[in-house]
Amino acid sequence: MDVIIQKDSEAVAELGASLIAELVSRKPCCVLGLATGSTPLNIYRQLVRIYESSELSFRDVVTFNLDEYIGLEPDHPQSYRSYMNRELFSKVDIVTTNTHLPAVGPEQNPRLVGDRYEEMIESVGGIDLQILGVGRNGHIGFNEPGSSLASRTRIKTLTESTVADNGRLFAPDEFQPQLAMTMGIRSILDARRVILFATGEQKANAIRLAVEGPLTASCPASSLQMHERATFILDEAAASELKGAAYFRWSHHHNTPLVDRYGFFHELSD
Ligand code: F6R
Repeated sequence: MDVIIQKDSEAVAELGASLIAELVSRKPCCVLGLATGSTPLNIYRQLVRIYESSELSFRDVVTFNLDEYIGLEPDHPQSYRSYMNRELFSKVDIVTTNTHLPAVGPEQNPRLVGDRYEEMIESVGGIDLQILGVGRNGHIGFNEPGSSLASRTRIKTLTESTVADNGRLFAPDEFQPQLAMTMGIRSILDARRVILFATGEQKANAIRLAVEGPLTASCPASSLQMHERATFILDEAAASELKGAAYFRWSHHHNTPLVDRYGFFHELSD
């Protein structure tokens, strides 16, 4: 597990976007696992900037999002499909039919949708890079505390704290979903690479528990301790409660020449 501490959220976004761009140029037909929320917004903006100012192409990229609300139409402004179309898909040359979210229509059986989602991921060879944010309560995707470490794509009921955190995006009298479809913790751990991004002091406790706490379903992000190639990219505020911060900085300093020489994704090829 690597922890990279950047000076601020802009630097986190720049590094995140450059790593995604590096993967797409190294492996044009790569499979990306994507997240929504506030944290990736600047990453997607920077990625669009790189796309506009270079030869980078998403034509052969396939994407799977972590999660989608249940009960919102795909074109509702707060659906994750709308978010992804607005923030990324409409701004690059990705093929819409290559972009997937675990959406459940009104007549669909969520269990079958979940199984089908897992099959689709498997049929394209699995996810090369999974992007994650983290909830204040340590959730990844919508795997709330207590989610099985062996879970796969399924329905989860959101916690009150998650509903409150996401409430900022809904009008006071508007319907706000309490249920979501989410990739499971096992599905996330199956990705060949995972990068969790966190910025801001409000994430510091979750990051401390995820990186330095015990491996436990009570903090789903701690499951990344089990992943062979997981990286946390944090700003100073999100890293502020890490006891091992000095070691992480020292280790990053020593890893940088190797990454410069071989690339971050040296083990992945087309
Ligand atoms: C979003 C997702 C969530 C968010 C998390 C942090 O697809 O899966 O786990 O990453 O709730 O959200 P922000 O970035 O808004 O703080």
